[in-house]
Formats: sequence, C-alpha cells, structure tokens
Amino acid sequence: MHEDSVLYSPFSFAGGKTAVNRIVKAAMEENMAADGALPGEALYSLYRYWAHGGLGMIITGNVMIDKQAMTGPGGVALEANTPLAPFKRWASIIKSQGALAVMQLNHPGRQVFKAMQGKALAPSAVPLSMGRHSKLFATPKAMTCEDIHDVCQRFVASAKQAMQAGFDGVEIHAAHGYLLTQFLSPLTNQRQDEWGGSLMNRARLLINVISQIRAVCPRDFIVMVKLNSADFQRGGFEFSDALAVVERLQALGVDMVELSGGSYESPAMQGNTADESRLAREAYFLSFARKMVAHTEMPVMTTGGIRRADVAEQVIEQGCTMVGLASALATTPDLAQKWRKNWTYAGYIPACQWRDKTLAGLANMATVRRQLRRLGNDLTTLRAPTSWWSLILDMLQRRKLTKRYLAQGQKQHSG
Ligand SMILES: Cc1cc2nc3c(=O)[nH]c(=O)nc-3n(C[C@H](O)[C@H](O)[C@H](O)COP(=O)(O)O)c2cc1C
Repeated sequence: MHEDSVLYSPFSFAGGKTAVNRIVKAAMEENMAADGALPGEALYSLYRYWAHGGLGMIITGNVMIDKQAMTGPGGVALEANTPLAPFKRWASIIKSQGALAVMQLNHPGRQVFKAMQGKALAPSAVPLSMGRHSKLFATPKAMTCEDIHDVCQRFVASAKQAMQAGFDGVEIHAAHGYLLTQFLSPLTNQRQDEWGGSLMNRARLLINVISQIRAVCPRDFIVMVKLNSADFQRGGFEFSDALAVVERLQALGVDMVELSGGSYESPAMQGNTADESRLAREAYFLSFARKMVAHTEMPVMTTGGIRRADVAEQVIEQGCTMVGLASALATTPDLAQKWRKNWTYAGYIPACQWRDKTLAGLANMATVRRQLRRLGNDLTTLRAPTSWWSLILDMLQRRKLTKRYLAQGQKQHSG
C-alpha cells in the first residue's frame, strides 16, 4: 500500500484553495465541443470519468479566447458574451468529487490550420516551417498594437467568465508555440517596438495578461502559466529566459508554473527517447523543473511522459509541487486510483515509431483523441489502438468538424 506516498498529500495554494493530492490531469484539447463551440454532453461524459478518477486537480483542454482563432475544429471558446450555463455545468461536473477545476486559456497565434479560414495573428509575419507540412497552416499577419491590446482584453474577459462559471482558476497557455510563446521567442518575435527586442519586452504581453487577470479576480482564484522550459530551436527561447520570466511571474502572484517544452515545429512535449535514464525518459522536463525549483520559490508542476507511480512520486520528491499527466489519463482516466491499489500499474502512452516524425506525432495525438472520443461516448478505451487507423479516423473526424465550424461561421456572418 502506498497510501502514505507524498503523491497523495494535499497542497494548499497561496490564495487558500487546496488540492486533495498532487496528481493533475494536464490539458488535452478534446475537439469534442457541441454546436457554438460550447461544452456539451460528450465533454460532460469525458470529464465525469476524470472527476471520479481520484485526481487533485483537473485542467481542461485549451479553451479559445476568440472564436475566430481556434487551435483546431471542435474546440471550446469562451468570450465575454458567451452564455455561461454550459460552462457552469462543466465546472460542477469536474468538481463533483473534490478535484479543483482549472480552465486553460489559449490563443493559437500563427498555429492555425489553413482549412479553418480563421484569423492567423503573430507578433511578426513569420510562417511555420514544417517542411512539406507547412502548407497546412495559414500565413500569419503581424499584429498591430490594437490587435495586441484586444488579445490581452480577451484573455482577461475569458478568465472572468471562467471564474463566474465556477472554475477554481485558469491556466494561461504560454507553451507549445502558441501566441504567447511566439511573443517570447526571438525567432518568431522580430518586432522593433515595446513588444519585441529584450526578453522583458517579449514577455510584456504575458505579463500584462497576468497582471490584469490578478487585478480583476480574487486572490483565491488560481492563476497558473504553462511555460516552455525551452523551445528546443537554435536561437529560440532558452531555459535561462524561462527562469527570468518565472521570477517576474512570481512577483505578479502567479500560483504555479507548469513546465513543458517545444512547439509544432519542434515537438519536444512528445519526448526525447534518446535519453539513457528511465527517469528522464519518463518525465521529459524533470531536469529543467529541478533547476527551476532550485532558483525560485514558485511552485512548479511538470508534465510529459509520466505513466508510472514511482516516477510521479520522484517528480514530487525532487521538488515539484504537482505532477501532470495527459496521454496516460486518456486510456486510464482512473490511473491515480489504480495506483493506490496497484503501485506498479503502468499507464499507456502511444509511441508511434514511423520514420516521418511529424506524421508519427500526429498519429500519437490522434490515438489519444480517439480514446477521449470513446470516453465521451461512454465506451471503454482501447489498450493499444493501431496508429494508422487512429490517424484515418481522426482525419475524417476533423474534416467533419471543420465543415461544421465553417458552416456555423457563415451562419453567424449572414445572421
Ligand atoms: C491529444 C492531445 C491534446 C493536447 N492538448 C493540449 C492543450 O490543449 N493544451 C496544452 O497545454 N497541452 C496539450 N497537450 C499536451 C499535454 O498537456 C502534455 O503536455 C503532453 O501530452 C505531454 O504529456 P503526456 O506525455 O502526459 O501526454 C495535448 C496533448 C495531447 C496528446
């Protein structure tokens, strides 16, 4: 029995809210929204499994702050005037068994699929460079100062809405190459004004978003930031930059930083299997997290590769406050509970070995999303689904959802 493991000890945030244990469901975009980019029955079913899964905190998949700028079809959006009833229901389901509910907020910036025909904004007009896959993405427009202020207001409005819907907090997505990351990286931010140049200029949008959310939400409302430990691209955002940004965020009252890494161009969040040690192979960003813990007082959570209890426990023992799991909870939503009875139970993370690494990464994501859809339909998950069939099903599903998104957009414009 491992009931006395540090994994199952509670943690109280600076504002007062308490997570019953240290195990967190990390954000996974579900692409399962109902009409109007709202939460609906499929998402409620899926989150019921996690609510009953013995987790300390549940972070939603990224929720968009602008319906015209979506990371993918079937995503959820929460704007200033979005009706709150479906979000209230979502929050109450997530919290029903005692987990904290945190909504992740995001803006994709240039990481917008061309087929979605949405806004593709970026600090500078630098398109994605993904070889033959680049053509899937829209060409971004360099943002004006008005665009930047609009994005900042949208983050704040969405956070207020999340609070009014009953969420315990928000996580601002500043990782994985999305808009806030694009501002942070000198490769994508080539601006000459107060939003570009020095690290603190590049961090200005993130800092403004955080300080304004802190100003309008009470102190017990949890504010987290998901940040890259690095972009893993030459000349990009580096770990020393992450340390400096975290110092600033701490002064602004951020409650916790979730450390991840990479982007669509360099998908480090899917792991670097070349590493020799099992701990590094199964907790991709732990060495960065350890260094961050040594440098700051900020509570740190790390996500990436974790599927075993002993690894999750070591993440906490080595100084992290919480440990995030994503893929493994798609196949086994009650993994945290299973570990209580069977400490050596290993969760499943798909690891497609195709030579085209981009395609293999897409297949892994597709496999996870397939499991999420099954849970949303109250079907059992599959132990080891085939990559190619998952990818085909995912492509068909995304095509259908993209058509729906475009049709609804046209309805809005004509109405
Ligand atoms: C299908 C899928 C969707 C994801 N969507 C998000 C997201 O919306 N926001 C986010 O911060 N990370 C997202 N991620 C990344 C995960 O949060 C996590 O950082 C990454 O999968 C590594 O953790 P894991 O090895 O436990 O899966 C997603 C991952 C997958 C597989």
